[in-house]
Amino acid sequence: MKGIVLAGGSGTRLYPLTMVTSKQLLPVYDKPMIYYPLSTLMLAGIKDIMIISTPQDIERFRDLLEDGSRFGISLTYKVQEEPNGLAEAFILGEEFIGQDSCAMILGDNIFYGGGFTSILRDAVKNAEEKDCATVFGYYVPDPERFGVVTIDDEGRAVKIVEKPKEPESNYAVTGLYFYPSGVAAKAKTVEYSERGELEITSLNQMYLDEKKLLVRIFGRGFAWIDTGTMDSLIDASDFVRIIEKRQGIMIASLEEIAYINGWIDKDRLLKAAESYGKSPYGEHLRTVAQGRIRYEGNQS
Ligand code: G1P
Repeated sequence: MKGIVLAGGSGTRLYPLTMVTSKQLLPVYDKPMIYYPLSTLMLAGIKDIMIISTPQDIERFRDLLEDGSRFGISLTYKVQEEPNGLAEAFILGEEFIGQDSCAMILGDNIFYGGGFTSILRDAVKNAEEKDCATVFGYYVPDPERFGVVTIDDEGRAVKIVEKPKEPESNYAVTGLYFYPSGVAAKAKTVEYSERGELEITSLNQMYLDEKKLLVRIFGRGFAWIDTGTMDSLIDASDFVRIIEKRQGIMIASLEEIAYINGWIDKDRLLKAAESYGKSPYGEHLRTVAQGRIRYEGNQS
């Protein structure tokens, strides 16, 4: 399976913070925002990842993440000239995806919770073996800000609407999507919406119509933060700080995930630690290399 991180958008809601930098490079406590969505794809076991961003910002992502080899992955970069909508990512990524299945995560979406790795691996399996797409629902008090999914008594999705004025349910569709092979061809048939975008919701609707859309709910104890507003940006930093201080270990530490997945060896991990200097991030990687952290199952 391939992966895409969509890190475009004009970020006007965060002006002046995002006047000269990309929103997805802003700090979320102790690391740049994009580390979090990248960690999600890596936990899903995805090693081939394309980062899509604006013409102004794409080189900054390349400066930060390079070719991905320090995380044991392969990164490619692609420009989205205009913010034409999320579904365009698959059209831009058509060649990169080839005949493969593909996951996409929005560069400003942060996920954290127990059992996440196995939930992700299930979604990969459903795409690769059952030819089904997976999206995730999350209870929110303000569904009109999101794509909203209506779920029947058996837990099946019956309707999915982008930013409805009168939402039928409180379940937002999060910015993490898994699709089987053929997603680029489908994305090409999506038509522009009234707000002039190629909506991911329209793409999801196609899978729903074919009865090939699975919806999984992230329940109690699971955190999803979409860092689209000033407040949610601060909330995300507070959340990460509290979790990390409480547990004494770091989350979304990319080299650590690569090391646990067996994608880099200890030498590489220590070299990476070196490159982060005396920061807490570098310190954490040294702790990982010393074998001081125990991992339960495939959790990280
Ligand atoms: C996008 C999607 C929406 C989804 C949200 C999740 O909205 O269009 O369906 O619920 O991401 O973060 P945007 O943040 O682009 O307004």
